[in-house]
Amino acid sequence: MLLILDTANVDAIKHAMEYYPIDGVTTNPSIIARRHSDFWGLLKEIRQIIGEDKMLHVQTTQKTAEKIVEEALLLKKELKGSIYVKIPISEEGLKATMQLKKLGVCVTMTAIFTPAQALIAAKAGADFVAPYVNRLDNILGDGTEVVAQIVKLFKLHGISSKVLAASFQNAEQVHKCAMYGCDSVTISEDIPKTLISHPMTDKAVEGFNKDWNSAYGEKTILDF
Ligand code: E4P
Repeated sequence: MLLILDTANVDAIKHAMEYYPIDGVTTNPSIIARRHSDFWGLLKEIRQIIGEDKMLHVQTTQKTAEKIVEEALLLKKELKGSIYVKIPISEEGLKATMQLKKLGVCVTMTAIFTPAQALIAAKAGADFVAPYVNRLDNILGDGTEVVAQIVKLFKLHGISSKVLAASFQNAEQVHKCAMYGCDSVTISEDIPKTLISHPMTDKAVEGFNKDWNSAYGEKTILDF
């Protein structure tokens, strides 16, 4: 399962690149706006941190297919490497996706809330479809169940598009998506730590250290 970071915070990206097996970065206009930075400067810095082999998903701000295509080509040219243009699902977005696929541009169709939207996005050629888990949970929906249905639909119909589950509030939602066979998740910078933390782990390590120190004091294996 691909693990992608949903942030434009360069310090958080540097940290995650050093400590976690991260496959790339996703952004959206809200995430970028939160940084109050120069757009190209910020995106190019992120590209430089993650390198050209890791995925960078950047969302278009355009509304018509013609302009979406124009912006997508510019994003691909400027940001180089593994670039995915995020396009919210709409008629114009689908038209742009079909054109971009012919031009060899990778697309992540985003703001997906139903399996039907995911199916049409995949048929238009989207490489990834991004269902929003927590936003569905927030309106008394079942975000991970929608992800499960999309995964099942894609398997049933032999669809090669990947499911990039997005919009998470907690580690349990991420875990459920993984259990449902979801291809990839994009998570905020706080979630990696919650995925690896457990009080029993801390307790186990504390016990190992205590036993070791009682026999060997402060010596480590390097001192023998
Ligand atoms: C996904 O493509 C979006 O960037 C994102 O995951 C939305 O998350 P939010 O609901 O926490 O804003």
